[in-house]
Amino acid sequence: MLHFLQRIIPSVVWETAETLVIWVHSLLRGVTPKIKGPSKHEAVAVPRIKKFDEAKQLLKILVGMKEQALKSRSTPNERLAITFKIENGFTTMSLDTHAEYVNHIHELLKMVSYYSEQILIKDIFETEKAIFVKKYGENIPFLKYILTVSFKFSIKRFLGELLNDKLTEADMSDLCLKAGDKITSLWLESKKGPVDWEEQKALFDILQILFPSLNVEDKLENPLNIILPSFETLWRVMYRLCVTVQCSDEADLYLKVLRQFGEDPSEATFKNKVDGVSAEFIVKEILFVNPPTRTIYRSDENGNIVGVDVKVVHMEGVEIKGFYPQRWGNDKDIPFLTFGYGSMSCPAKRFAPVALALMGAAIFEIFEYYAWNVELKKIDAEGKNDRVKYFEFEIKKVK
Ligand code: HEM
Repeated sequence: MLHFLQRIIPSVVWETAETLVIWVHSLLRGVTPKIKGPSKHEAVAVPRIKKFDEAKQLLKILVGMKEQALKSRSTPNERLAITFKIENGFTTMSLDTHAEYVNHIHELLKMVSYYSEQILIKDIFETEKAIFVKKYGENIPFLKYILTVSFKFSIKRFLGELLNDKLTEADMSDLCLKAGDKITSLWLESKKGPVDWEEQKALFDILQILFPSLNVEDKLENPLNIILPSFETLWRVMYRLCVTVQCSDEADLYLKVLRQFGEDPSEATFKNKVDGVSAEFIVKEILFVNPPTRTIYRSDENGNIVGVDVKVVHMEGVEIKGFYPQRWGNDKDIPFLTFGYGSMSCPAKRFAPVALALMGAAIFEIFEYYAWNVELKKIDAEGKNDRVKYFEFEIKKVK
């Protein structure tokens, strides 16, 4: 199977999550990705925290200080509140709004069983495979597939009852990809300044079709309050997971472990180790080496922003920097900030790894393991610097 990818993809290609977003956006538009420009935060040289102890100090919430903690998070998230017209636990300064939002998310994240999650995931992934094969023939643009299934999963899993039941799966597939694309582009634009209102309107038009009973532009009813934290993290991890597993020297072992989990999805198989590797370790490792929330921002009372550089904190003092799931069997004291820290950390920290492992298992099963390849298409970016070469993948049926 993968083969030549293993040899030619330099580790430097696996840029930050932000760079990934930039090139995804460019690729979807069929234009050459631009070299990453300074973001609004970077332009004012946001101080970065790179040590685990300092990060924990910043993120932990002292008794009676929750309101200040919310404020310190809502300031750096202001641009998201404006861009996506949201008001949720990430943007609010109100203790009540925060509590109500987080409780609702906790309810949504309850799992009946691993098996019931798998049924939904496989159904979405298989349906989308059929739609993509019909649309693109035997060369499936992997990125578009991942964006679509991740968006569709986020809306069906968390907002299923509100979805427009008159839409066909193919129509919904189209809308999911367009919405995912718009979210990505608005996210990027918002870093440079106010966003193009037409782009913003296009996103809300799509959401209104998907959720006809909601007033999607009302900041409290807006489904993006729930979609954003889910979609924006899951698709990026899924993409990394699939390509990293496929490109690894140990691909056979990782695929075997994911296959076993897919055949019998339960907590026991999630944790079951084969040669020191479990599905749990594979997912934890991808979340460790490529945390999708690369920086966790807070502000002080004067509005000065500081960011925890999650990946740098992770890599500090770690000997093996590359993908190495076995590390989780050896050392229990590795700093892990992918889901944040303290009482405002991610409520999906148990759900998301299971969902991601089920998604990984589903993709490799649906694309029939070795019968499908990920094929590299190199796209020359501006400049000759190695750091700005970009890659796209296709799943290609082997004749
Ligand atoms: C791989 C997947 C995910 C990652 C890496 C992730 C990461 C994070 C991080 C780093 C935080 C803390 C932010 C901060 O301290 O400012 C956070 C908070 C949060 N995440 Fe996630 N997340 C993921 C998936 C999800 C999903 C699927 C949902 C729900 C649908 C979700 C809902 C939330 C919520 C509601 C909070 C705020 C919690 C609070 O304020 O108490 N996340 N997440």
